Amino acid sequence: MRPMLNIALPKGRLGEKVYAMFEEAGFGCPSIKENNRKLIFENEENGVRYFWVKPSDVAIYVERGAADIGVAGKDILLEYQPDVYELMDLHIGKCRMAVAAKADFRDDRRRTLRVATKFTHIARNYYASIGRDIDIIHLNGSIEIAPILGLSDVIVDIVETGTTLKENNLTVRETIVPISARLIANKAGFKFKTQQIETLLSRMEAKTHD
Ligand code: PRP
Repeated sequence: MRPMLNIALPKGRLGEKVYAMFEEAGFGCPSIKENNRKLIFENEENGVRYFWVKPSDVAIYVERGAADIGVAGKDILLEYQPDVYELMDLHIGKCRMAVAAKADFRDDRRRTLRVATKFTHIARNYYASIGRDIDIIHLNGSIEIAPILGLSDVIVDIVETGTTLKENNLTVRETIVPISARLIANKAGFKFKTQQIETLLSRMEAKTHD
């Protein structure tokens, strides 16, 4: 019997788009559309088992082999550097990692810059690359408040439409890196289930380049 392909999907709107892509590629699982609180869905016929997980946890499931493949944002991959294969850019969930500040903020390079962020690794790397001394303030959300309350000088955060910044009177100062959703695979799982994963990849590649 063919082994089941375990797939971690990011819960939420992005995950629903991703599922639709898998379904179109012939890896559907009709029970996933039942509106209940279940988190695991299986379709033996197509050899797939899907789990809904918190978007920032997808890479952990895949790295440790609880899922063979999954979809994670490039932000998470850059921040946590999980030991997984990055197989494909899905060209969805597009946004960018950026530095933002209050409109009237002027950087004084003689002072240590106070940076509030959830993405401490990305922020440290970025400022090291431009030789700027920083003091990192790690926050878990609502990062935009930090410069308004004087907790930080700038923030490093995800910008998608720019609405959150605008509504909090902040402006983008630098773009650090563009972000999009990536298909990732567990390294051992990829060896055992190469055929299924390659089939999925080639069908998805055909679609993302339509
Ligand atoms: C992200 C990010 C910004 C917002 C940007 O937050 O941290 O706050 O989206 O989107 P916009 O440019 O379209 O306004 P998210 O909603 O993912 O929640 P979080 O606060 O948990 O990061």
